[in-house]
Amino acid sequence: MDYSKYFSADVPSFLRSPVREIFRKVDLSAICSFAGGYPAACTFPLADIPGLTERVLAKYGTKALQYGATQGVPELRELIASRYGVPVSQVQITTSSQQGIDVCSRVFLDPGDVVLASNPVYLGALQSFKAYRADVRDIPSGDASDGYLSGGGQAPKFIYVIPDFNNPTGKTLTLTERERLVALARELDCLIVEDSPYRELRYSGEAVPTIRSMAPERTLQLGSFSKIFAPGFRLGWIIGPEPLLEQIYVCKQCLDLCPPVLDQYLAAEFLGSGLLDANLQKTIAEYRRRRDLMVSLLEKYMPAGVTWTYPEGGLFLWLTLPPAVDTVALYDRALAAGVAYVAGSFFYTDGSHRNTMRLNFSFVDEAKMEPGIRLLVSLLGGNQVPDC
Ligand SMILES: Cc1ncc(COP(=O)(O)O)c(C=O)c1O
Repeated sequence: MDYSKYFSADVPSFLRSPVREIFRKVDLSAICSFAGGYPAACTFPLADIPGLTERVLAKYGTKALQYGATQGVPELRELIASRYGVPVSQVQITTSSQQGIDVCSRVFLDPGDVVLASNPVYLGALQSFKAYRADVRDIPSGDASDGYLSGGGQAPKFIYVIPDFNNPTGKTLTLTERERLVALARELDCLIVEDSPYRELRYSGEAVPTIRSMAPERTLQLGSFSKIFAPGFRLGWIIGPEPLLEQIYVCKQCLDLCPPVLDQYLAAEFLGSGLLDANLQKTIAEYRRRRDLMVSLLEKYMPAGVTWTYPEGGLFLWLTLPPAVDTVALYDRALAAGVAYVAGSFFYTDGSHRNTMRLNFSFVDEAKMEPGIRLLVSLLGGNQVPDC
């Protein structure tokens, strides 16, 4: 049977994530995976979950198993509101921050609408923008909108940006870069989607003000529990102006009626009891060690001509290899040898920059990191090394 006639006109624009394809092909725990953005399992508060669940069920009983409000349960919204210093009315709980990106795309984008995004860009965001048939363009460089509109650029609906510890590059925008983005958004009169799942994972350097704090009237800031609690809960939030959240609220009714209620109460209990902050401190210390280890291994083993970013937080760093290296072509050999990375070109809207790669430093046990990096170096033409 030919099923193609049943698919909507959006379907050909769906983008398959090469990162998630990797997960389908291999057992991540059997290899050295520097590929996915997985948190370290040791950061999950496994031992706290039975106690949290008991307390939640004692407090809320069957309410925890019932449908809840589309905006999220009030207890969690209030905790998020007070943590980030905003009124509760400016908080919408989402079923993951990926849903936050998708719901913003669905609410704001018509086919052909322009989204300005950095290039390389987070793949999950690109998948949502493409699914709604948006025209994804690079954020213009230079001061404000210099030449963007006069050069024929269509006014964007929003600018999508990950200001802190970017996925994939690990870079953080300076205050000046943030001010420039805000000026650009004001000049183009567009919204800003500030995707911020890593902001609380800072290992060095000073925090830079959020874009939301600089342009609250036009910014939707997306947050996530995935990296500060556990991704299995699929919980995130959006902070933004009420009139925008009102439409997101209506849209979310048809997506999932409400975010998962038991999970929200668990997150509220975890956050409200102070356990989240205690666990976060441990997580930060763990990831700081892993980042430092990966950077020191790159310094020790990578041949001349290879450069990398130094992330002040988050989960990734970004390697630029000599132009002759093709990380896409190398990939199957790397997997067969037992090491995984993500080819950098997958994050470019035009598939360029085949000499780049994204490395994740949060997932691999410290003991496996050195053999993994040495294996990677050997595949890049360095010395032969033992198995990972
Ligand atoms: C920049 C960025 N935004 C959003 C997400 C999605 O996170 P969540 O688990 O909350 O859906 C990720 C996940 O890796 C990410 O890197």
